[in-house]
Amino acid sequence: MMQQYREAKARHPGMVLLFRMGDFFETFEEDAELVSRVLGLTLTTRDGTIPMAGVPVKSVEHYLRKLLHAGHRVAVCDQVEDAALAKGLVKREVTRVVTPGTVTEDELLDAARPNHLVALAFARGAYGVAWVEATTGDFCAADVPPDRLADELNRLNAAECLVAEASLPLVPDEVKAVLPRAVTGRPDWTFDPETARGALSGHFKVITLTGFGFRDDQPCVAAAGALVIYLQETLKSSLAHVLRLRPYRADRHLTLDEVTRRSLELTRTLRDGQRDGSLLSVLDRTVTAMGARALHDAVLSPLAERPAIEARLDGVAEFLRETGTRRDLRELLEAVPDLQRLTTRASTGRASPKDLAAVGRALRLLPKVKAKVTGRQAKLLHDLDGRLELCPDLRELLDRGLADDPPYAVKDGGVIREGHSPELDELRRLAREGKDWLARYQAEQITKTGIPSLKVGFNSVHGYYIEVTNAHQAKIPADYTRRQTLKNAERYITPELKEYEEKVLTAQDRALALEAELFEKIRGQVAAQTHRLLNTAEVLAGLDLLASLAELAASRRYVRPQLVEDPVLEIRDGRHPVLDQTLPPGTFVPNDVLLGTDTGRFWLVTGPNMAGKSVLIKQTALITLMAHVGSFVPAASAKVGLTDRIFTRVGASDELTRGHSTFMVEMTEAANILNNATPKSLVILDEIGRGTSTYDGVSLAWAITEHLHDAVGCRAMFATHYHELAQLAESLPHLRNHNVQVRELEDEVIFLHKIAPGSAERSYGIHVARLAGVPKPVLDRAAGVLAELEARHQLPEAKRRPVVDPPEKQKRRKPREENGPTLFEGQT
Ligand SMILES: Nc1ncnc2c1ncn2[C@@H]1O[C@H](COP(=O)(O)OP(=O)(O)OP(=O)(O)O)[C@@H](O)[C@H]1O
Ligand SMILES: [Mg+2]
Repeated sequence: MMQQYREAKARHPGMVLLFRMGDFFETFEEDAELVSRVLGLTLTTRDGTIPMAGVPVKSVEHYLRKLLHAGHRVAVCDQVEDAALAKGLVKREVTRVVTPGTVTEDELLDAARPNHLVALAFARGAYGVAWVEATTGDFCAADVPPDRLADELNRLNAAECLVAEASLPLVPDEVKAVLPRAVTGRPDWTFDPETARGALSGHFKVITLTGFGFRDDQPCVAAAGALVIYLQETLKSSLAHVLRLRPYRADRHLTLDEVTRRSLELTRTLRDGQRDGSLLSVLDRTVTAMGARALHDAVLSPLAERPAIEARLDGVAEFLRETGTRRDLRELLEAVPDLQRLTTRASTGRASPKDLAAVGRALRLLPKVKAKVTGRQAKLLHDLDGRLELCPDLRELLDRGLADDPPYAVKDGGVIREGHSPELDELRRLAREGKDWLARYQAEQITKTGIPSLKVGFNSVHGYYIEVTNAHQAKIPADYTRRQTLKNAERYITPELKEYEEKVLTAQDRALALEAELFEKIRGQVAAQTHRLLNTAEVLAGLDLLASLAELAASRRYVRPQLVEDPVLEIRDGRHPVLDQTLPPGTFVPNDVLLGTDTGRFWLVTGPNMAGKSVLIKQTALITLMAHVGSFVPAASAKVGLTDRIFTRVGASDELTRGHSTFMVEMTEAANILNNATPKSLVILDEIGRGTSTYDGVSLAWAITEHLHDAVGCRAMFATHYHELAQLAESLPHLRNHNVQVRELEDEVIFLHKIAPGSAERSYGIHVARLAGVPKPVLDRAAGVLAELEARHQLPEAKRRPVVDPPEKQKRRKPREENGPTLFEGQT
């Protein structure tokens, strides 16, 4: 048996092999050590030498999920014949290969998030990246410049990444840090451009990929080919659900780097990494899994082109106006199952009877959905309507073919509806009538023998039998033949019973076999319509997305943003989308942010700790982003200039795993902004230069502000406690000072959360420390030190001056010397 195990193991290199032994799936040797660690199982041994650990067959899905999440690939080696009937060693085969990037089972997936499988090809000048959502067949590729690779991979948040074995050691550290746990080394030949192209041409039945918008020699084409080869190998099925390869055009999307996505808390919070509290969580009013995934994608890759954004906004606006339609449509959609993932399972031959029944349910709802969409004005809605296929032929087939509530497994029977196949109906009748016969036969035998406790029964090893307890053995008729001896009874067979057994068992077996055959056929017919079904599923996702954004706009009183080409931002009474929903109603204080030629495009925001600076600048970034998603925004009005990138850097963090200290992280992020921002970008800085000494910090913040203002010319908001930066307003024409206000009452400070022109003078840090529960002696001492420092403000001149400017520039923008003490205020 161990030999059988080792053979299976050798055919699935790099995978954990679960080996069926009776009621358990066992693992051996290094796999056993691994799973006992990952799953917390007891490690035992087989024959006292071979390490072994197992999981019960009935809970294998639960353990599979854990293994996948830990980034492992798993091959399930099952018994493929009945152990009771096997002569010698039970036959076993790998019946299922499950990897994090190719799973299609709902129980192993998060319904609201795409599950990406990525392939990475190394080439000169750019990386070839291809990715597929294996559960929906959405397949894209793009060549990505080295400095964007980490960001793109981070956006994709892949479950699994394929890399050619020879390239594994070449993966740069910063890329390694964003790769998923499951990095699968693949044979180098699968990434060979020639082979890869061959795989794609074979799959798509095209000679060249130019029709899809690619050049055949692009590195990403090699990655895409390697990915197709891997899918064919692991899914061991048709890839009909992978309909086309789309080029991902970065310039059609507003670029967000990894740091920005993280610090804006788009899909999960900074604090605990949970979805709750993220932008996505407050925007999400979708009612289908397909819509939820579409929103997830939309938030992570907002649009950059005006027509596309306006099209979405038009759709949202129409659903917002048409309250009744929206309500009805959402009610309908709520009942629609996940047609994308269902179709994919049908197309890869994995759909269960329940899955196909769900497809049927979805199709039955489509005419009603269409009725709600037909005749809409918005172009996008009109397009969606045109693409929504009702597939009546398929619906009829499923309605006619499948029983009302079919079981999960075909082998349980009862999958096919009565009347679908006369042959099946006949077999079923035979089997059923057989059962009546059995009851009659038992009654007859009781009368004939005079044994009231006589029973006719069945077991899978011995078949049908008549059981008579030992007390009545004397009354056994001559035509009874002994079949089996039990402790208190004997079991017999008679010629009639034998004949019956053959008839019924064959009828049942044949009915089941026929059902399986008919089911396969129906599944094949559904699979043949993969293209239409996926198209329709995409329409449903789009409708859900637009209706949910409209629902959100209605319930939170959002307004339609006005998009303009000029790099301006005019938000009146803007609110933070998350706090607006999580704070008690009416407590959030809205604010105006006006970035533009007359109002200054660089706002320096000062104000006490806890005043609301971070909230204000973040909400500005979020409102801008939401506008580019095509969503309405939380404000009284918003004019948003088209934006190519949003950059944010927030607070202090370290990334020790990447070998970066706190300040190193801060400066790397600053460098990224300074090098990549354009006049169409929006830059949000929340404290910069805080992780080093005061003088170094002020000097850097000073120089960064000047550079963004003069050289880049982008829209920017910078929240800081370096009050001396306020002087820059005198020399930088587009910079304006604003502060978030507080009111001082005796020794209380009241946070007004309202922004006003001008800079703040104090940070009230000690006050906030008191609110936070810092012990009184420490507060008193701090107040003393502060007073002393403020009194002793004469500092050596050289130390106060930013040191990075060339001497002539320093003269122009020298910080005012008499402002010495404010340096310390910045540190309160
Ligand atoms: N506009 C607002 N309306 C109501 N509450 C607000 C508003 N802005 C901020 N707050 C509340 O004040 C808290 C502190 O805000 P924020 O983090 O923006 O302060 P800050 O000025 O950045 O402080 P620090 O200088 O310490 O970083 C928020 O968590 C929120 O609860
Ligand atoms: Mg802050």
